[in-house]
Amino acid sequence: MNLPGRVTVVEVGPRDGLQNEPEPVATPIKIEFVNRLSDTGLSCIEVSSFVSPAWIPQLADATDVYTHIEQKKDVVYPVLVPNERGMERALEAGAKTIAIFNAASETFNQKNINASIAKAFQRLEKVAAVATSENIAIRGYVSCVLGCPYEGAIDPATVGIVARDLFQLGCYEISLGDTIGIGTPLRARRLLDAVTQHIGLDQVAVHFHDTRGQALANVLACLEYGVTTVDASVAGLGGCPYAEGASGNLATEDLVYMLHGMEIETGIDLDLLIAAGRFITKTMGREPASRLGRLPKGRRQPRYTT
Ligand code: HMG
Ligand code: MG
Repeated sequence: MNLPGRVTVVEVGPRDGLQNEPEPVATPIKIEFVNRLSDTGLSCIEVSSFVSPAWIPQLADATDVYTHIEQKKDVVYPVLVPNERGMERALEAGAKTIAIFNAASETFNQKNINASIAKAFQRLEKVAAVATSENIAIRGYVSCVLGCPYEGAIDPATVGIVARDLFQLGCYEISLGDTIGIGTPLRARRLLDAVTQHIGLDQVAVHFHDTRGQALANVLACLEYGVTTVDASVAGLGGCPYAEGASGNLATEDLVYMLHGMEIETGIDLDLLIAAGRFITKTMGREPASRLGRLPKGRRQPRYTT
């Protein structure tokens, strides 16, 4: 098997996870959650979202959260930004990295951001212009890369074009989002064939939701293909409020356990990561969606660390 020696894990729980919680999570809890994640050795943690609070009330406190977390100097803390207003708010908060997003499905985009793909790109051009002039790094997402809750199958060639156009706006990396967790390893590889027509593999991250239990298998297929950046959400938090049936993201602890057990370095302390997942789910009165996250410490053996 051809596998990388090191993988960068992008933790999206505080944003992609908490955006989907039916009950609001108190701001101090979110702050402690991000701080605990910062202590695990993660190098990138998406903190929150400067989208419209009318659309995602769960993250209406993005400014408070972002301005109160303790930022470590070697950790990147992106925030999601959909438009110029979001960019203004991110700048006011002092964000150094933003994440912009567009979908490979017209219908999903209408439901999620009230815009066609082309109109969203017009907004994002303005966002990227401001970010570039302010020296803010930009990460990009394409949603619905392996299927759409409204349109069904999505042509990988369309994903390639959206990824290309995001990259041309100045994104340092494009994360391919299987928003509804519908992909399989074969389809994930075909997707990478299409996307790498336009951007390099080292600019690709993968972002799988685990709705159909395929996320880890998909990650493995992508690692074998040469991908080295993987998004995940601790405790398997997540979903998308505008994609009915989308369940949680791939759980970060499951991902890290697999990577370490395959002698792939992440720099992450798995016990601290599991503790962060248990902390946030306990405040919600439930257990982590990850089976590993639910196991008592003594039963997590063999304990791989890299
Ligand atoms: P809209 O209603 O069409 O916006 O929403 P608008 O431009 O017509 O403005 C309406 C009002 O909202 C105005 O206020 C604006 O100022 C305000 P008013 O003048 O009426 O008082 N407004 C804002 N306020 C604060 N922050 C802002 C903002 N923008 C406008 N940024 C909009 C369009 C894009 C804003 C909205 O649809 C939106 O925020 N959508 C985001 C939904 C979302 O966050 N979905 C989940 C994230 S994407 C995802 O999960 C996929 C991903 O994880 C990858 C994967 O899994 O595949 C990334
Ligand atoms: Mg997502």
